[in-house]
Amino acid sequence: MICKVVTVIVGLIAVLMGLIATGVLHKTDIVANLVAKNKPELIGMVPLTTKQSDLKNCFKVESLPSLTGKVALVTGGNSGIGYETVKSLASKGAEVIMACRSQAKCTEAASMIKGKVSTMLVDMSSMKSVGEFSKEFLKRYKRLDIFVQNAGIGVFDDHTITPEGVELIFATNFLGHFKMHLAFEKLLETTAKLTGDVRIVLVSSAASFDAIPEVGVHLNLKDLNDKSKSSGVKAYGQSKLAQGKL
Ligand SMILES: NC(=O)c1ccc[n+]([C@@H]2O[C@H](COP(=O)([O-])OP(=O)(O)OC[C@H]3O[C@@H](n4cnc5c(N)ncnc54)[C@H](OP(=O)(O)O)[C@@H]3O)[C@@H](O)[C@H]2O)c1
Repeated sequence: MICKVVTVIVGLIAVLMGLIATGVLHKTDIVANLVAKNKPELIGMVPLTTKQSDLKNCFKVESLPSLTGKVALVTGGNSGIGYETVKSLASKGAEVIMACRSQAKCTEAASMIKGKVSTMLVDMSSMKSVGEFSKEFLKRYKRLDIFVQNAGIGVFDDHTITPEGVELIFATNFLGHFKMHLAFEKLLETTAKLTGDVRIVLVSSAASFDAIPEVGVHLNLKDLNDKSKSSGVKAYGQSKLAQGKL
């Protein structure tokens, strides 16, 4: 009996792999429809199973309007999602400020992008650094059209308390950005009055649904600093949930 069940499972897995390998699954909307119906919070992951070109209404960089004259700030712009965002915004003519914690990485990444890209240093986990960065930014720029709050660390990082006394993942992903957001509120408002079009993007995660797996989605900040009650997964989920609530 066990052998039969195992054979059926292996067979089903083989069929699924075949559908993926031959591209048949890509040509259908089966996964997208299933996810949309049962787990709508995971819809952002559908492109993993669906060819970009097959996605109806899929976002494309080419569909962005000209961004000439606009100022954009992307935290954690030297790699991953942040880097691609800087590249896309710059390709449309925006003046992009790539904010990173390492000057070497920032300079190297910026040098690979065509367009008006400059670099600024900030450690998002340090409220002191964020304060200094914000002050300098406000001195240099008189408008902020696009603010992408992207820098982040993940679930595999150790439970660490920053010198300022905050759990590291939460400080980096949420608190630093929240402080920066507050510092730029007036600038964003002024820009919005000028252009009627300001975009603030918080790069959250489906992991916010795993913030506290035992009890569901709740912000629980009192246990964050307690190593025995917290973990990388919980702290990451909490930081992403806090972004969502902002
Ligand atoms: N990739 C995914 O599947 C996924 C899914 C859901 C959400 N996200 C979110 O998407 C965002 C970008 O992730 P990614 O996948 O593109 O990761 P990534 O390639 O590791 O990029 C993260 C960026 O954040 C920067 N960063 C980390 N700590 C920082 C600090 N203290 N101060 C300043 N910058 C700091 C990193 O700088 P260094 O290069 O110096 O480390 C890097 O530039 C994150 O907020 C992440 O939580 C990602």
